[in-house]
Amino acid sequence: MGRQFPSSNPSILLLALTGAAIFCYSFNVVEGVIGVSWGRQTSHRLIPSMVVDLLLQNDIRHLKVFSVSDNVLEAFSGGHIAITVTLPNEGLKHIVNTGVAAYWLQQKIRKHQIKNINITSLYVGSQPFSTFYRKETYDTAVDTLKIIQKALHLNGYENVVATTPHFTDVLKPGMMKPSEADFRPDLKEKMVEFVKVLNASKAPFVMDIFPIHFVAENKWDMEFCFLDNKSNFSIKDNGHVYTNVFEFVYDSFVTAIAKAGVPNLKVMVGQIGWPTDGYPGANVANAERFFREFIPFVKGKKGTPLRPGISIDVYIHSLVDENLSRISLGAFQRHWGVYTSNGEPKYKIDFSGAHRDMYPTTAKGVVFMPKRWCVFKGDKTNLTKVENQVQRACAEADCTSLLPGGSCSQLTFQQNVSYAFNRYFQMNSQYSTNGSSCNFENLAAVVTEDPSVGTCKFPVEILAAERAETDGLMKRSRAEEWLKGSSRSAVVLSLLLIFSFRLI
Ligand SMILES: *[C@@H]1O[C@H](CO)[C@@H](O)[C@H](O)[C@H]1NC(C)=O
Ligand SMILES: *[C@@H]1O[C@H](CO)[C@@H](O)[C@H](O)[C@H]1NC(C)=O
Ligand SMILES: *[C@@H]1O[C@H](CO)[C@@H](O)[C@H](O)[C@H]1NC(C)=O
Ligand SMILES: *[C@@H]1O[C@H](CO)[C@@H](O)[C@H](O)[C@H]1NC(C)=O
Ligand SMILES: *[C@@H]1O[C@H](CO)[C@@H](O)[C@H](O)[C@H]1NC(C)=O
Ligand SMILES: *[C@@H]1O[C@H](CO)[C@@H](O)[C@H](O)[C@H]1NC(C)=O
Ligand SMILES: *[C@@H]1O[C@H](CO)[C@@H](O)[C@H](O)[C@H]1NC(C)=O
Ligand SMILES: *[C@@H]1O[C@H](CO)[C@@H](O)[C@H](O)[C@H]1NC(C)=O
Repeated sequence: MGRQFPSSNPSILLLALTGAAIFCYSFNVVEGVIGVSWGRQTSHRLIPSMVVDLLLQNDIRHLKVFSVSDNVLEAFSGGHIAITVTLPNEGLKHIVNTGVAAYWLQQKIRKHQIKNINITSLYVGSQPFSTFYRKETYDTAVDTLKIIQKALHLNGYENVVATTPHFTDVLKPGMMKPSEADFRPDLKEKMVEFVKVLNASKAPFVMDIFPIHFVAENKWDMEFCFLDNKSNFSIKDNGHVYTNVFEFVYDSFVTAIAKAGVPNLKVMVGQIGWPTDGYPGANVANAERFFREFIPFVKGKKGTPLRPGISIDVYIHSLVDENLSRISLGAFQRHWGVYTSNGEPKYKIDFSGAHRDMYPTTAKGVVFMPKRWCVFKGDKTNLTKVENQVQRACAEADCTSLLPGGSCSQLTFQQNVSYAFNRYFQMNSQYSTNGSSCNFENLAAVVTEDPSVGTCKFPVEILAAERAETDGLMKRSRAEEWLKGSSRSAVVLSLLLIFSFRLI
């Protein structure tokens, strides 16, 4: 209906659209889903069955995984947890027709569904229009989604919804009110096409938001991130008052989608999180404070000023820290977890939204290595040598907590060096039969007293109970087997090889 209005009169358009949106959503009474995402770019991982247990203990029934490994999905057999899988950005351009799409769906979805693994939705790409990926994915993202939608339909996947998540940077920058929101002019054409595809297949629009980043970019008071009404900063818009960034961004998307011609599309949140390190304001206290009101807000079906009373499905990013995650955007990328990568909760959070003052359940069955740490012995006679060894350690191990703003950024030089050495030592499973992982040209030694300093924890390794499966799609040999005796095109081969490049 939106398209009948002249776009030269946006306020009338919007008024009408808002009315339609309220009408469509006011009788939606199911409470919002709280799911989590689980990425596995970590050097030592919780085994999948531990994660299943962790989720069920916390009554989390919705999980998103970033790519699809057989051994991970098999742990979810039984259907108690609904799973969202992702077709990675690298794969988008390889889905060239419904045949290839059908093959991918068979391998990644149906094969698991018949084992009673409850895959209910598929993300086709991940933030493909974000400035970070755009160059490679701009042309293909919408076409791939269309092809996948068609293949889902043709092959009878009635219960699988396909959509694509978008980051807040698809919105035009610099808007001061939700009513000013629109998609960026350079993306507008694609977004108009995209929301039509969603509307036609009744799929939701998925927005990803990083609250502190959005607020920082706009140079607003950080208090505006929180939903506990302590902010003195608020934004007034057509009689609505925005007291937090979540409602601001949600309604901005609602507005932009309406301006793109589909006023009553469902909008959900594919990713929202609060890292605990590596970004100004990223710490445990703030993360706890954020979720303490955010989850009850979602569960309370309060809705937003433009869509009051609706339920909003939300996936929290993320379950555990990923200390091998890329840090091209910043060290915070390794610190998204509600849990550390060894399965201990970092802060109190009640996933049920009942305001219980509690830590979530700790992962059961995690086995730690002995309490041994590797530290710098203190010989500073050759500083070049010390610095070289620190660099060597941090090239492989995760030293991001040492960076400015990190939880270990206040260490002395000596402690700094110890931190780096210990990270390397633990990462190598304390391997020291010949002293090789705690030697550093004789600068280091193993100790049994915990060298942690305040909030800066020197971790001990967990026993790596799982060997990472190194194939995103299927084992190379099986892929080749499949290709043998089949006349599939080279496109499929390159598809298989490309997918095996993403490790988890
Ligand atoms: C799969 O998950 C969906 C969404 O939560 C749920 O409605 C459905 O009952 C689940 N299926 C099974 C077999 O448990
Ligand atoms: C959205 O979908 C509905 C129902 O399928 C249809 O009536 C409507 O015309 C669609 N809107 C647009 C803008 O495509
Ligand atoms: C914040 O203020 C709004 C509007 O006054 C109110 O509806 C809401 O319950 C308040 N939230 C909290 C956590 O106090
Ligand atoms: C908000 O304003 C009140 C009253 O003016 C003041 O006491 C409080 O410190 C302010 N809060 C913040 C976070 O600035
Ligand atoms: C200091 O260490 C560096 C690197 O290990 C080495 O090349 C250099 O010769 C050393 N300098 C002295 C004075 O020993
Ligand atoms: C500790 O290491 C970090 C990261 O390499 C560096 O930024 C910081 O300046 C170091 N601090 C000291 C006291 O050497
Ligand atoms: C990742 O984190 C775990 C748990 O804290 C730790 O044991 C491991 O050594 C870390 N890996 C790297 C590469 O730093
Ligand atoms: C220690 O063992 C590692 C791994 O087996 C090997 O690469 C290294 O050369 C050995 N170092 C010494 C000093 O023997």
